[in-house]
Amino acid sequence: MKVTVLGCGYVGLVSGTCFAEFGASVTCFDVDKTKVNKLKDGMIPIYEPGLNALVEKNVAQGALSFTDELDNCIPESDLVFVAVGTPSRHGDGHADLSYVFQAVKDIAPLLKNYTVIVDKSTVPVGTARNVKRIIAEANPDADFDVASNPEFLREGAAITDFMRPDRVVIGVENERAENVLRELYRPLNLIEAPMFFTDLESAELIKYASNAFLATKISFINEISMLCDEVGADVHAVAKGMGMDSRIGRKFLRPGPGFGGSCFPKDTQALVRIAQEHGVSSRIVETVIEVNEAQKARMIKKIREALGGKESGKTLAVLGLTYKPETDDMREAPSLAILPKLIENGCHINAHDPKGVNEAKALLPNSIKYFDDIYVAMENTDAVVLMTEWDVYRNLDMEVVKQKLNTPIFIDLRNIYEPETMNLLGFQYSCIGR
Ligand SMILES: NC(=O)c1ccc[n+]([C@@H]2O[C@H](COP(=O)([O-])OP(=O)(O)OC[C@H]3O[C@@H](n4cnc5c(N)ncnc54)[C@H](O)[C@@H]3O)[C@@H](O)[C@H]2O)c1
Repeated sequence: MKVTVLGCGYVGLVSGTCFAEFGASVTCFDVDKTKVNKLKDGMIPIYEPGLNALVEKNVAQGALSFTDELDNCIPESDLVFVAVGTPSRHGDGHADLSYVFQAVKDIAPLLKNYTVIVDKSTVPVGTARNVKRIIAEANPDADFDVASNPEFLREGAAITDFMRPDRVVIGVENERAENVLRELYRPLNLIEAPMFFTDLESAELIKYASNAFLATKISFINEISMLCDEVGADVHAVAKGMGMDSRIGRKFLRPGPGFGGSCFPKDTQALVRIAQEHGVSSRIVETVIEVNEAQKARMIKKIREALGGKESGKTLAVLGLTYKPETDDMREAPSLAILPKLIENGCHINAHDPKGVNEAKALLPNSIKYFDDIYVAMENTDAVVLMTEWDVYRNLDMEVVKQKLNTPIFIDLRNIYEPETMNLLGFQYSCIGR
């Protein structure tokens, strides 16, 4: 099968590479010529474990290629996946669909044989129908169907998530499109991955509802962690005890400095807007967003308290900047909300991140000093703030940490260390809800 993927970002690049791995002949297109040239030269523009090797293998086998020209690939394609960005629109939080609509306007005149146009980007309910209208208006002779195939991969585990998904959700209008998509995803039958076919609107909403639900679990446990801090309970014990109930489940019940990333913040906002547009209230999701903002603000208070009530003039060694480990993605990372505020309040920041520094430099205040070595970053600082739970921070040499710090203050915003052990080691240790 011939597949074109529009957009070579986190989702487009992973999806295209995995479809090639499934046996399709895939061309990935992007409007960003620099990105395409890098990819043609064998350079992967993002950090995603396992992606380099898989791209290299499929390019070498002739199953995967990159282009900044649509004319060659679109007329031949059985499927065209739209995997462009849908960021929050400035001002109103609605999903900005301009990239999606531009992408389909660009391909419409080039459609030749029967083609299924598939929305993989996260898009509000009704987008697939708008895509259909745009293409039909631009090219009344085109023989095509639209489908919605939202993506659920997690950055940092994207290849495994794509190759071994919990489910594949596909919204279609007819059997003809369904059969083309079944054929593409056929290799997943071997591992009996559930394929869930539904209508366009339900598929579109499943994605938003899923992300909003996961974000709800995070905000819920963050709120419970606040109560734990006050009543002397251990949020890990509470989460474990809750998670043993199969109706609740163990995942996404880990407190932290608030959710970030390229999806939860914008998708919760967009769901609220979609509901508003349809005259429906979404009070739970609105509150989830509010709780998340409050959680980030609470982290500043926590850091201030750990520093004895005043952060002005203090130097902090911040470990981790990305919104989660195993990605260089800085979109909506809690560090973007927390660090500028601390600097505004008079803190100096030494920062370390295994992969996110380049992205971070463009988004964080210039006064931050970046270090390649974790322990050098700690030299002559007044406290460590562990912001992202990268593996390299899980087994720090605490004797060296103590030597480097002016005062042995360790603020663990990811709860990766045990309070008792840290206290025994002589640290003044703060964490969340324990
Ligand atoms: N990142 C994730 O973890 C994730 C997970 C699931 C779903 N999604 C959704 O997938 C979509 C893509 O997200 P992403 O993180 O890959 O975005 P991204 O910003 O990493 O990549 C988007 C790419 O699209 C390109 N682009 C823009 N306009 C284009 C056009 N007209 N034609 C071709 N390419 C164009 C951009 O140059 C960029 O390379 C979003 O809707 C997002 O919500 C993302």
